[in-house]
Amino acid sequence: MKILLAQPRGFCAGVDRAIAIVERALAVHGAPIYVRHEIVHNKHVVNSLREKGSIFVNEIDEVPDGSVLVFSAHGVPKSVEEKARARDLTIYDATCPLVTKVHMEVTKMHKQGYRIIMIGHAGHPEVEGTVGQVDSEINVIEKPAQVWDLEVENPEKVAYVSQTTISYDDAKELIQELKKRFPLVAEPKKADICYATQNRQDAVKELARRVDLVLVVGSKSSSNSNRLREVAEGAGTKAYLLDDAGEINPDWFEGIERVGITAGASAPEILVDEIVEKLKTLGADEVGTMTGQQEDVKFPLPKGLWKKDLENA
Ligand code: F3S
Repeated sequence: MKILLAQPRGFCAGVDRAIAIVERALAVHGAPIYVRHEIVHNKHVVNSLREKGSIFVNEIDEVPDGSVLVFSAHGVPKSVEEKARARDLTIYDATCPLVTKVHMEVTKMHKQGYRIIMIGHAGHPEVEGTVGQVDSEINVIEKPAQVWDLEVENPEKVAYVSQTTISYDDAKELIQELKKRFPLVAEPKKADICYATQNRQDAVKELARRVDLVLVVGSKSSSNSNRLREVAEGAGTKAYLLDDAGEINPDWFEGIERVGITAGASAPEILVDEIVEKLKTLGADEVGTMTGQQEDVKFPLPKGLWKKDLENA
């Protein structure tokens, strides 16, 4: 059996930054550090930060006065931010800058009087954070048919934004439908689906064409990892989403000659390495990597967590 690794795969710049924020906050302030929501949607990342002294909470009320609090990479609604900032807390915002960009778009569109529609998964923390940037209602839709159920007072003053981690192809279809119903719909200046989501989806599509089975490393709660599995299956190749090597079922590989591996934007590379090792025990004898898009995106860390702050800690 041959293994082919997708390129790119795994950590994106927003996840790198979010993890670094928690680790540096621990180094500068000492444990415990409170984190609202899972910092990124990956079981292994969350467990490892928990072991280092992070406490994950759902509500700000669970954070004692005088503590250090980190907002997760998914972003938070304005009401949560305001509530936290009114408290005696040291706050670091790990919201991915590409999610913040969508927050700014929503705020601007709202000020311009648009009725805003968000393409995304209702209930996902990123969507809750984005919808919570303004005090008027934002409709969240994920299927083209839902476009026709929207009740809109002025169809000429409608705008849309998207969740950063949804499927590029699904979003395209939905946007076409939106344009059919609202020909004047205002669009974001630059696509909201982020570079990491787009690159990983492009890579897995290509990977799926070249292998008999795709393994996607990522947690079930991770939106972008779920989409990678769907994109692989959409390309006609069976795909499994798994957290780690422990979830591998040897039966999956019966009659399989080429297996592809990719990883969601929140999945550490070590988990890919462990899966490769496990597959070697099941008969894999060759490991290759696709040539693909190289990424060099980096986001700066917030003030207070720079190198000099670590030195002074
Ligand atoms: Fe940001 Fe995209 Fe990663 S929105 S957290 S760069 S998946």
